[in-house]
Amino acid sequence: MSINKNSGIVDGNNPLHNLDEWEEDVIKRYPDPTSINKDKKEEQFRNYEETEKDGVKEFYRLNHLYQTYEFVQQKKAQYLKFDKKEMPIWSAFEFLNELVDDSDPDTDLDQMQHLLQTSEAIRNDGHPDWMVLVGLIHDMGKVLCLFGEPQWAVVGDTFPVGCAYSDKIVYPEFFQHNPDYQNPTYQTKLGVYTQNCGLDNVHMSWGHDEYVYHMMKDYIPEPGLYMLRYHSFYSQHRENAYDHLMNEKDHEMFKWVRLFNPYDLYSKNPNQKSWEELKPYYQALVAKYLPVNIKF
Ligand SMILES: [Fe+2]
Ligand SMILES: [Fe+2]
Repeated sequence: MSINKNSGIVDGNNPLHNLDEWEEDVIKRYPDPTSINKDKKEEQFRNYEETEKDGVKEFYRLNHLYQTYEFVQQKKAQYLKFDKKEMPIWSAFEFLNELVDDSDPDTDLDQMQHLLQTSEAIRNDGHPDWMVLVGLIHDMGKVLCLFGEPQWAVVGDTFPVGCAYSDKIVYPEFFQHNPDYQNPTYQTKLGVYTQNCGLDNVHMSWGHDEYVYHMMKDYIPEPGLYMLRYHSFYSQHRENAYDHLMNEKDHEMFKWVRLFNPYDLYSKNPNQKSWEELKPYYQALVAKYLPVNIKF
């Protein structure tokens, strides 16, 4: 048995049975509009609190409690040196698949399957090949769990730190216990930032999005980098809660973030082609954009 790898062992710091529980909760909050009964308003489907799992709520509590401005700086210093590991992307996928919880019958997909379903849905809709690649790698940052990071520092909705929390973030009341909540500098609307300073100047809560963005920033076109970096920033791409920090370019680029999000959330496909069949295409795609070894 292993610890801290979402292997079905719930401990105080890791209340989810697996990382997918957070994404399942996001889908309850933001259901697929194409599958919504047309007679009901979307609001009625957003009443997810009745069905939520206690582990998910506890996960958000820890996330909102511990993701401070200082914590984000520490994690950036620790991980953005990329001195942990170096491997071909294919080994990284195998590494990522160690996150599979084989004791949980509800988890039918490994991480690689989610990535392939996302990328294949993007490819089937005829989007540019770099966007297909983004689909394939967007959750690569979850390897943070395998480096010993707790779930609340890997997944979860991301949000700016160093300024007031939006009540559009899931469970905003949990922020009252974050130490930054007591720091007046961090609790004005703009906090340490300036009006429309641009998201590149804003520190987001730490997790798999920020990590994979930095990993890929020399290799992928800019709209793809926005998709990687902000795909869990639901309070902005779904709720527009941080327009005051966004600049013109961010607004333009968030069209791409919004284009990507349904592929991440709603691309489950029971008839997915086998990896053997898909392999030649993806090998060529990876070779076109990425170096032989990726640094972690
Ligand atoms: Fe993700
Ligand atoms: Fe994902």
